[in-house]
Amino acid sequence: MGLLSRKATCNSHGQDSSYFLGWQEYEKNPYDEVLNPKGIIQMGLAENQLSFDLLESWLAKNPDVSAFKKDGNSIFRELALFQDYHGLPAFKKALVDFMAEIRGNKVTFDPNHIVLTAGSTSANETLMFCLADHGDAFLLPTPYYPGFDRDLKWRTGVEIVPIQCISSNNFQITESALQRAYQDAQTRNLTVKGVLLTNPSNPLGTTMTRNELNLLIDFISDKADMHLISDEIYSGTVFDSPAFVSVVEILKERNLLKDSDSDVWNRVHVVYSLSKDLGLPGFRVGAIYSQNDTVVSAATKMSSFGLVSSQTQYLLSAMLGDKNFAKNYISENKQRLKRRQKMLVSGLKKAGISCLKSNAGLFCWVDMRHLLQSNTFEAEMELWKKIVYDVRLNISPGSSCHCTEPGWFRLCFANMSEDTLDLAMKRLKAFVAESAGGNGRRKSIIGHSSGKKKSPTKWVFRLSSRDREQGDR
Ligand SMILES: Cc1ncc(COP(=O)(O)O)c(C=O)c1O
Repeated sequence: MGLLSRKATCNSHGQDSSYFLGWQEYEKNPYDEVLNPKGIIQMGLAENQLSFDLLESWLAKNPDVSAFKKDGNSIFRELALFQDYHGLPAFKKALVDFMAEIRGNKVTFDPNHIVLTAGSTSANETLMFCLADHGDAFLLPTPYYPGFDRDLKWRTGVEIVPIQCISSNNFQITESALQRAYQDAQTRNLTVKGVLLTNPSNPLGTTMTRNELNLLIDFISDKADMHLISDEIYSGTVFDSPAFVSVVEILKERNLLKDSDSDVWNRVHVVYSLSKDLGLPGFRVGAIYSQNDTVVSAATKMSSFGLVSSQTQYLLSAMLGDKNFAKNYISENKQRLKRRQKMLVSGLKKAGISCLKSNAGLFCWVDMRHLLQSNTFEAEMELWKKIVYDVRLNISPGSSCHCTEPGWFRLCFANMSEDTLDLAMKRLKAFVAESAGGNGRRKSIIGHSSGKKKSPTKWVFRLSSRDREQGDR
């Protein structure tokens, strides 16, 4: 008999993945332009710090909102007492309108079908609890967000079966890969309860094609009791063509939203959060959107375990309810992401490194296969260690995202200043040049920021170890 429960001590949390280990290494020696210019630059954290000034300027113009006032009167007590797990109606309305705006208002969402959760982490886990039993499986296209091992599996006992996507078709989902995953689950005697896709993809930084979405809808339509979860947490980050297409848009095009003979729409659920598009992971605001009343009702009851605080809901209902602000924010934020992604891609190019063509997200999926000593995951780990300890960049190895091909890495670009990104690229370039020319001059790789300003920066470099253990991204 142990001191703790089996759940508390089982290792399916995934904390020992290189994805999380990289964060720990960063934390021991974090880069700071002034205080620690030779430290590790954090490129393993999908945070969006590019548009904080827009949020801050809105707050400055609307001081009543953060002072908990409405029409000049304090609503502090009302907010302090509010405890409804259905959420503030004004916030749910503002959130569904924001989601529609991101989708170009091609689809709309009914606030009665939204369940508020403490981020997408909680939304995804809640859906697992609602849709699957311990030992059931969900199919997930690879490479996928490393946090899913924790969010989908750890407490629920649900299994993830990978749909193995490969570089030769830019990691798109194919019918044969989907069928293979399904067969694989059956061979393992697992009941498949559905497919979970991330659109746009983390870590690929690409949007899903209509073909892929249709393939997945057909797949679940054919089978009773099979669900499709679409995690659209990056939907507002699509900065380049092709445009973002939500699974809901496809359902609408195929007339599956209204068709009373069809129960497909009842089996499609959208997950969203303000952690990426608004850059507010600390606020813990997420949502499940489902047309299925039973799922909405069960998920609402479960949301008691991870509610969004009422002052957060109040603040954001005012901010997102400001339609002009919301519209401008979405468009300006995309422009900034686009510029940043370009900077990263051109910096990599100068270092002789290419990446998957991307149009969304806060990261690029980078091809470093030519830098491997051999085509193995051991070689990928060796390269990763060199990049973390010698080049001092924390990046995420493809193996932590369950990529089946060694040599791919995820590099984030929106959690640092342009100067820091520039320095990161210079370090990488020096490393590649050194690797090509043999050994010896390791110290020269680290270098200094070319930035003119040497004053303390407004970029927030994170965090305490406690935060990091609990965090995701
Ligand atoms: C695809 C995906 N889903 C969910 C999450 C969790 O986000 P949240 O902060 O909303 O819990 C992340 C965070 O990186 C993510 O990339």
